[in-house]
Amino acid sequence: MCHPVADRGYRTVSNDLLPRIGVIGLGYVGLPLALLFVREDFHVMGIDIDAHKVQELMKGNSYITDVSNEQLSMALKSGRLHVSHTFQGVSELDVLIICVPTPLTPTFGPDLSYLQSALMALKPFLRAGHLIVLESSTYPGTTEEVVVPLVESTGLSVGQDIFVAYSPERVDPGRPMSLEEIPKIVSGVTEQCRDKIVAVYEAVFKYVVPVSNTRTAEMVKILENTQRLINISLVNEMSTICREMQINIWEVIQAAGTKPYGYTMYFPGPGIGGHCIPVDPLYMKWKANQFGLQTNLIDAAHQINQARPLEVIRLLKQTLQVETLWGKRIFVVGVAYKKNVNDTRESPALPIVERLQNQGVAITYHDPLVERFRIGSETLKSVPISPAVLAENDCVLILTDHSGVDYNEIVKHARLIVDTRNATVGVAEKPNVVLF
Ligand SMILES: NC(=O)c1ccc[n+]([C@@H]2O[C@H](COP(=O)([O-])OP(=O)(O)OC[C@H]3O[C@@H](n4cnc5c(N)ncnc54)[C@H](O)[C@@H]3O)[C@@H](O)[C@H]2O)c1
Repeated sequence: MCHPVADRGYRTVSNDLLPRIGVIGLGYVGLPLALLFVREDFHVMGIDIDAHKVQELMKGNSYITDVSNEQLSMALKSGRLHVSHTFQGVSELDVLIICVPTPLTPTFGPDLSYLQSALMALKPFLRAGHLIVLESSTYPGTTEEVVVPLVESTGLSVGQDIFVAYSPERVDPGRPMSLEEIPKIVSGVTEQCRDKIVAVYEAVFKYVVPVSNTRTAEMVKILENTQRLINISLVNEMSTICREMQINIWEVIQAAGTKPYGYTMYFPGPGIGGHCIPVDPLYMKWKANQFGLQTNLIDAAHQINQARPLEVIRLLKQTLQVETLWGKRIFVVGVAYKKNVNDTRESPALPIVERLQNQGVAITYHDPLVERFRIGSETLKSVPISPAVLAENDCVLILTDHSGVDYNEIVKHARLIVDTRNATVGVAEKPNVVLF
């Protein structure tokens, strides 16, 4: 149970005395966080090594679906947001919040190279009094085992001279919920570190939830995302079983959802994508294995997720009643990993499109939020939906259920449709639709 933060701490001091915030990594997590601090009167320096992104930001062009150009321009006009692709000036800041990627290595282990390079870049500028906050999702132990040793290699002692904290980011891109409304888990390497982060975060977040140490806070994020991975994988497995048994999984879920307790609705799809849910549980697996422990449920869920693209292709073959898809034309609708975002990282569309192309299928696609889509060395470009485009393809494959796509039009003009998201739920007559 979270209680709203009372007006205290930095909320009561004059704006000139507010700590100066540095946000390192201006992506889906860092940019909205930087803007939140700016809105609450803090001065923010946003740092990103991607010079092109920084240039776009300076022009007021946002590349994040949830951040409008207007919001960005207002922050820049306020004079309280500065963006840079270098680390110059870091020593004049007070709080350094790290929001860099934590992806997987090719062997599905943790890739902390972005974090390590951000820490190395910060190191020459670290000074007594700095509060360093890690927001990237990672395995329990990272803050103590990776961040603290590097910070202490400067000769500063954590908890006395300099402060280190961890706060997992729980933003859900595409969901219309303001960042400050999402309860914020905070933790510190020592009690002093935790007090520091609580004071700063209470000034911008409505609910701050301190936990006893950084390992616990890291585990909170892993637990949340592992629960989602396993539950979505379960419903994905159920959907395959239901299809073979000619039961409509979507109807089953809606009916089960009427139970007033003990059941939470999860929905099947072509595979779980994004930078968090398929990734974070494998960070946990890696760490658990170091303790000699197995992660059987995570392993099974990962396998189910990895197999989803093959399932989609199997259904395409069944739908088109062919042994091989060679020479077929397929129009993909939606390549983002989920609805209403422009993010294609870990999107199931990537392995599906790649496999289809390798099997001799001509692919075109439409995604209202993803103008270009890179597959290996080839770049595909989104084409508008039109009756002609729909009719000339052997099949339409819906992989993302973005709002703002006219599914009636698709059903009206396409020959066949494989709908992996039940995006056509609102269309009354749809004899040409096969649900995944
Ligand atoms: N995207 C989400 O929905 C989401 C939600 C919760 C948590 N997270 C976690 O937050 C972290 C960041 O994710 P994201 O989605 O914002 O990633 P992102 O790729 O959108 O943004 C990260 C940014 O960091 C920059 N960067 C990389 N190395 C850098 C360095 N050394 N110095 C400065 N900048 C650097 C990149 O150029 C990029 O712009 C990850 O750990 C992710 O798992 C993401």
